[in-house]
Order: sequence, then structure tokens, then C-alpha cells
Amino acid sequence: MFKLQRYFSLASAAAIILLTVALSLLYRQNAVVNLSKLIEAQNVALAQSFANNIWPVYTDYVNSVAEIDGDALRAQPETQKIHVTLKALTAGLPVLKVKMYRMDGLTVYSSEFSQIGSSKEGQEGFEKVLRNGKPSTKSSFRETFWSFDGQVENRHLIETYLPIYGPGGRVEGVFELYSDVTPQIVDIGETTATVVIYLLLGLGLLYGVLFLIVRSADRILKRQYNDLEHEIAERKQAEEDRRLALVDAEQANQAKSEFLATMSHDLRTPLNAILGFSDFIRNQYFGPVGDKYQEYAEDIHSSGELLLSLVNDILDLSAIEAGKRPLAKENFSISDIVTECEVILKEQAQSLGIDLVMKVSKDTPPLYADRRAITQILLNMLSNSVKFTPEGGKVTLRATATNTYHTIEVSDTGKGIPADKIETITDPFVRGVSDPHKSHQGTGLGLSIVKSLVDLHDGELDIKSTVAKGTTVTVTLPIQRDLHLSL
Ligand SMILES: Nc1ncnc2c1ncn2[C@@H]1O[C@H](COP(=O)(O)OP(=O)(O)OP(=O)(O)O)[C@@H](O)[C@H]1O
Ligand SMILES: [Mg+2]
Repeated sequence: MFKLQRYFSLASAAAIILLTVALSLLYRQNAVVNLSKLIEAQNVALAQSFANNIWPVYTDYVNSVAEIDGDALRAQPETQKIHVTLKALTAGLPVLKVKMYRMDGLTVYSSEFSQIGSSKEGQEGFEKVLRNGKPSTKSSFRETFWSFDGQVENRHLIETYLPIYGPGGRVEGVFELYSDVTPQIVDIGETTATVVIYLLLGLGLLYGVLFLIVRSADRILKRQYNDLEHEIAERKQAEEDRRLALVDAEQANQAKSEFLATMSHDLRTPLNAILGFSDFIRNQYFGPVGDKYQEYAEDIHSSGELLLSLVNDILDLSAIEAGKRPLAKENFSISDIVTECEVILKEQAQSLGIDLVMKVSKDTPPLYADRRAITQILLNMLSNSVKFTPEGGKVTLRATATNTYHTIEVSDTGKGIPADKIETITDPFVRGVSDPHKSHQGTGLGLSIVKSLVDLHDGELDIKSTVAKGTTVTVTLPIQRDLHLSL
């Protein structure tokens, strides 16, 4: 996770230090430059007064001095006079030292006598003044320094070379003034320290406020990150659970289908034997049996038949569910299978006093589907209607078609299905109104098979029913073409 708080602290500390150092240095530099300019301006004024008062008086003396050594110069009475005059002129001013140079660089006067007679020729500041005719200034620090009043220590100085202009406007000599700016520099130092303190306080305050904001942002970020991690873990877990559940369900379904298939096979074999032997007894193939035996044999046989049809239904359903019910599609006439169903159910309907009516539209095109499956669908629908319709009722089958689909509808005037059962009535083993007399016993598999077979044909099943009025079950099948024929 991004460590916002840590990076912010490091970056801010570095920025605060850099900013404080840079700003205080800038301030100090600026203050020193301004001070230098100010002192230079003062020195220019002072030098002008020297040039006016001293230079004209001593011009001849200065120019007359030959290449004599320092001692001889120091012994000159003019030296002493210049010294007294300059000392008087600079009294009360921060000027610590004054020097006077001739154009050839000879130091004709210095308030530090030992320097009189030395040459400035070739010295940078001096030459610059001669070249430009303008003042030149630099600052320095001296641990010991010789002033008008003797030796002083630890002084910040501003040294200015100033050109001396003669009456003709020509540069005739150079003054050098040393001004003491120690108090101002100390002031600047103190102000710089104050600036640093204020900067640190201001930036520190800003840092504090930003730190609080960043800390709460960091906490929010951490919380969201943890929430996200938690959510991701939960989702992964849920996904894993779902996957395992799916695997379980698939395994259970597979196991169920296998169990049903095996069980149904196992049941069918002995059932066939029961049916076969009871048939022998029932029909008395090997000589007569007593009345009671006869009756029991009938019972055994009808129970066996019921059981066999149940097993067949279960087997069908599990085969469809397991995807082991391949569709053998072919073209056939819908009225053919309607007639077949009518033949099968006619007798039963008649015996129950039910009117069975079949209506197939004349222009109905052939159906391209699994014939056995469609027959089973119709038989299940019709047998339900016959089974759940009381005497005197009517069961009607209508088969129609449009360009895109076939519709087969079976309606009756029977006892109907309760509204709250309709949604689940196609689930296996679900039955509608319970019959106290159990006269219409069914296992609740017929409609499940219908639904599964209709689904296999990409069709739709619709059930509409009103209790005590009747039921209409509609199957819609998309018209499918036999690709082999159409090619
Ligand atoms: N036409 C109908 N009229 C009234 N009730 C019906 C009708 N068709 C189905 N039902 C109700 O729906 C239930 C489920 O029907 P389904 O055909 O699945 O099973 P069943 O007929 O009971 O048994 P079987 O497996 O022998 O078909 C029935 O028990 C019945 O209660
Ligand atoms: Mg049924």
C-alpha cells in the first residue's frame, strides 16, 4: 500500500529545510547587496568632499613626489597634514581608513602609515576604477584592522575605490575608503535569524495542518484498502463456495440420475416377470384357477402395470435430465399422431362419459420433430385432462400453425389446478388438488416429462387453469425445417 503519511513527512521536511535555507540566504544576500550600494553612495559623497577639499590643495605635492621610498614619504610634512585633515573630516563617520593613490598606483597617503609608498599598479579594483572611471566596491571581514584610531578587531568592511576627477573632468587619482559595517551586518544576521524562525514557524504550522489532513486521508486510504482486501477475500471465498456447491450439485445430480437409471432397470426386470406370470394366471393358460386367485391375479397385474409406467416415466425423465435422450427428428403429419392418441384414449374417455374432440387445422404443415416425444407430450396432456375431468365433461385438442410455430392446445372442463400450484406443477412429483378418494392417483411426473421434452424442442409450455372450471395446457413449437430435405 502507498505510504502516504511517510512520504509526505519526508518530502515536507526536505522542502521546509530547503525553502528556509534558500529564502534566508536570499534575504541575507539581498540585504548585504543593498547595504553595499548604500555605503558606496555614502562613500561617493564623502570622496567628492575629499576631492573638493583636499585634492586641489595637494595636487602639486602629489604630482611632485618622485619615486622615493615609503619612509621618505611618511616623513613629508604634507602626509601629516593630510592625515589630520582626513581624520577631522571622517570623525563621527564609520570610515575606518582612507588611502590616496596617484594614477601610477603609488600610495601617496594611507591612514595606516606603513602602507604609504607601496604600489597598487596591476591590482584588480584599482585598475577597474582607472578603466571605467566608476567606483568599485567589495565587502570583506578582517580579524584585525588598522584604523584612524589604532587597531580594531573582527570588523565587517566595505572597501570602495573612488576615482578623483580633476577640473578638466579627467581622472587624476583614486581614493580608497574602508567603511565599518559591522553593526549593520550583525543586524542583518539577527534579522536573518528572525526570518528563519518565522519561516520555520510558518512552514511548521502549514506542515502541521497538512500533516493532520494527510493523516486522516491516510487512514481513510488504509481503511478503504482493508475493506477492499476484505471484500476481495470474501468474493473469492464466495466464488470458491459457489464453485464447490456447483461441483456438489453436479455430482449429486449425476448420482441421482445414475441411481434412478440403475434402480429403474433393476425394477423393470422383476416387474416384467411379475406381469408375465400374473398374465398366465389371469388368462388361466395352464388350467382354471379359483375366483379369488383370478381376482388377485388381476390386482397383481394392474399394480404391476402401474409400477411399470411409473418406472418408465422416471427412466424417461432421468434420461432427459442426463442429456441421454437424443432426438430422432423426422417430418410427420400432426394429424397422424393426434389420431393415434385418439385411438388410445377414446375407450377410456367414453367409459368415463367424457366427450373427446380433436381439431387439427387442415393447412397445418408437417412437424419436424421427434415423433415419439411429441406423441408422449400429447398423450400426457390428454390423459391428464381425461383423468381430471368429471363425467359429462369435455376434452378438446386443437392443433394450429403459423409461419413460425405450431400450437397444440388441450383444454378441458375438469377440476382445474389451484393458482398457487401452477408455477411448480411441472416439477417432478408435484400434484394439484389432493383427491380424498384417490380415484385419480398419479405420480406427478407426466407434466415434468412434457416440460422436458418441449424444452428439448426449444418450445414453450403454458398452463392456464381455474379450479372447478377447467384447464388449458398449450405447447408451442417453433417450426423447424429438415435441413436434409431443404438442401
Ligand atoms: N388437466 C388437468 N386438470 C386438472 N389438474 C391437472 C390437469 N393436468 C395436471 N393436473 C394436476 O397436476 C398434477 C401433476 O400432473 P402430472 O401429469 O405431472 O402428474 P399426474 O398426472 O398426477 O401423474 P402422472 O405421472 O401419472 O402423469 C396432477 O396430479 C394434477 O393434480
Ligand atoms: Mg399425468
